[in-house]
Formats: sequence, structure tokens, C-alpha cells
Amino acid sequence: MKSENISLTWSEYESSDELLPEDRELIIAAREATENSYAPYSGFHVGAAVRLENGVIVRGANIENAAFPSGICAERTALSNSASNYPGISPEAIAIAARTSDGLTKEPIPPCGNCRQVIAEEEFRNGKNIKVILSGNSKIIIIDKGSDLLPLQFNRNNLSSNPL
Ligand code: THU
Repeated sequence: MKSENISLTWSEYESSDELLPEDRELIIAAREATENSYAPYSGFHVGAAVRLENGVIVRGANIENAAFPSGICAERTALSNSASNYPGISPEAIAIAARTSDGLTKEPIPPCGNCRQVIAEEEFRNGKNIKVILSGNSKIIIIDKGSDLLPLQFNRNNLSSNPL
């Protein structure tokens, strides 16, 4: 038997004034994107903004559905949008923000498991890390590489190493 360990390093900021201008701009876009959310069932309006390597910013918002599982998260909306409209252009960062009836959340909102899997696939596919920027009103968290949020992730290597 042996034990293995995976550790996660992230950065925390008290204000977006401490960030690079392009990351600050991405947070603003994610916050604005919450306005396009359709969340009549949860009341939780999420916005995501993806910055591509060419500088283009692509936004997404969560779009819920009366058939609950048919709803989609903001991060996957944004990444599906960027992948389908800008093929071959790698995402380099994604910012996430959320708003309730009380306004923007105080705490940063982390991506759900499904969204982590999609962020990891986009990194794998493009061979480029995606910086993940979680923005709350009282704190901002930055993780330099999205797949760090998904230790022991399932990826294409698992498919080929397990032939039927
Ligand atoms: N949601 C997102 O858009 N992104 C996440 O990473 C977490 C959850 C959405 C899904 C649903 O519309 C609402 O937030 C409440 O779960």
C-alpha cells in the first residue's frame, strides 16, 4: 500500500483592484452575464465569461428548464458558445459570478462537478490551461489551472486504457 497526495494552490484577493486589468474586465463581463440568466426555479442567476487567446470575451448564463435536468450552467453555456463559434481558438480564462434577489453573492461561486469536467476537457483539447476566476463581492479566488479542481479526473486516456 502507498499513499498519494494531491494539493491545490489558489490565490485570494479582497478586491478586484488587485487583479490584472484583463481579469478585472472578465469579472465585470461575468457579473453582467448574470443579467441574461433564466433561473425562475432556483432564483440563482449565474454568469460566466470566457476570455479566448485572441482577446475575445464570450459570455454565458445559466438557463433553467421546467424539466430540471434539462437546465444548463453558465460555465457550460459560455464554453459551448466559445467552442462552437471560435473553433481552434483556446480559452485562457473563465470568470464566474452569481446573483440572487439580494444582489451579487458575497462569496465566490465555484463551478459544479459537471462544469469542472467540461473546463478540464477544454484544457485537454486545446493543450492550454484555463485560469478560473471565482468572484464574490467580498473575495475573489483564482485557480491557475481548471483541471486542478478535478483531481483524478476521468479523461480520454481512461477510455483507451480500458478496451472492451
Ligand atoms: N449553476 C451554474 O450555472 N453554475 C454552477 O457551477 C453551479 C450551479 C446554476 C445551475 C442552476 O440553474 C442554479 O445555478 C442553481 O443550482
